[in-house]
Amino acid sequence: MSATTTSPGHHTGDRTADAMIDAAVLDEVLHAIDLHSDVLMTWDYERSRHALVKLYEKAKTSQWNGNDLPWDIEVDAEKLAASGSAAQRFGVLSGHPDSPLRSWGAADWQVFQVEQQKFTLSQFLHGEQGALVCTGLITSTTPWIDAKYYAATQVMDEARHVEVFARYLDEKLDGAYPINDNLGGLLDTIVEDGRWDITYLGMQIMVEGLALAAFGFMHMLSQEPLLKQLLRYVMSDEARHVAFGVLSLKELYDGLGAAEIRERQEFAYEAAVRLKRRFSGGEVFARLGADPKAVLSFLDANQDPNQLVFQQMLFSKIVPNCKKLGLLDAGDGWLREQFTGLGIIEFEDGINAVDEYELLDAVASDEAS
Ligand SMILES: [Fe+2]
Ligand SMILES: [Fe+2]
Repeated sequence: MSATTTSPGHHTGDRTADAMIDAAVLDEVLHAIDLHSDVLMTWDYERSRHALVKLYEKAKTSQWNGNDLPWDIEVDAEKLAASGSAAQRFGVLSGHPDSPLRSWGAADWQVFQVEQQKFTLSQFLHGEQGALVCTGLITSTTPWIDAKYYAATQVMDEARHVEVFARYLDEKLDGAYPINDNLGGLLDTIVEDGRWDITYLGMQIMVEGLALAAFGFMHMLSQEPLLKQLLRYVMSDEARHVAFGVLSLKELYDGLGAAEIRERQEFAYEAAVRLKRRFSGGEVFARLGADPKAVLSFLDANQDPNQLVFQQMLFSKIVPNCKKLGLLDAGDGWLREQFTGLGIIEFEDGINAVDEYELLDAVASDEAS
């Protein structure tokens, strides 16, 4: 793969395309991933997948413009952080005699909460770019015209999501953290895999499920009106995106043999384990001069309240969709056994994305009110 892009504002003059790849810039702001996917064009234009046709129509009428959000609201970073998830961590870390951060004073905790909020929103931003890249890829790799149409609407959605999170971080919080290693590794794995349905399974079911849960968690806690509105609109798109994954993969997985199904079950399981290990924010503690390993193992040992609630929300999004896809019980029920082992099978009868996306449609509900 050859990259011919440089960072914004980096002048290339009249150098050749190869010379345009400046190694320092590539290290700093660009990240190359090798592709192993076949690009498919199809000459079958028949609109035969009615559920996808309906979803595509919904996507066309549910577009919104990020510029219309109330950007003139002034955001008080400290107030914003106080209503964020970091406040719960503060309770555990500040009040315990064995806490590695017991010496931190009020001012330290204030800075921590602001940084934690910034870190989390930064991972949302990078994950959104991952979704943008993956859905661009899906328009090329999916064999079905109805799926290409739908994926194209999702590319626009994800561009808008990257735009609004980047703008929020830049204008209201003064910049972003780099991508977390766990998230970056998961995105690389999804993009690198040459099987077109794995891009779907990884991005549309697992990462989009994570997004719905994480945005829902922040939306629930946050009192900041601009962020709350931004998240509500983004979530309304994300619910449609997970439905796209479920509707597409169900058809494919119904026709796969046992060995192929088992590979998909293993992929879903490994992604779930990775998500369960979470994006814990060790970077924030490191930036503030604490030992991230000591803090995270203390939090693990003391039932980090953040993670317990978040994991419940996460798996309540992922497990019902795996069930709807038939992945839980296909073959010899291997995935059901694994999810039982992880303690997350209890979520299997939660609402799946196909039933949920219309309920979360923010544009339609604004129009109706
Ligand atoms: Fe998104
Ligand atoms: Fe999405």
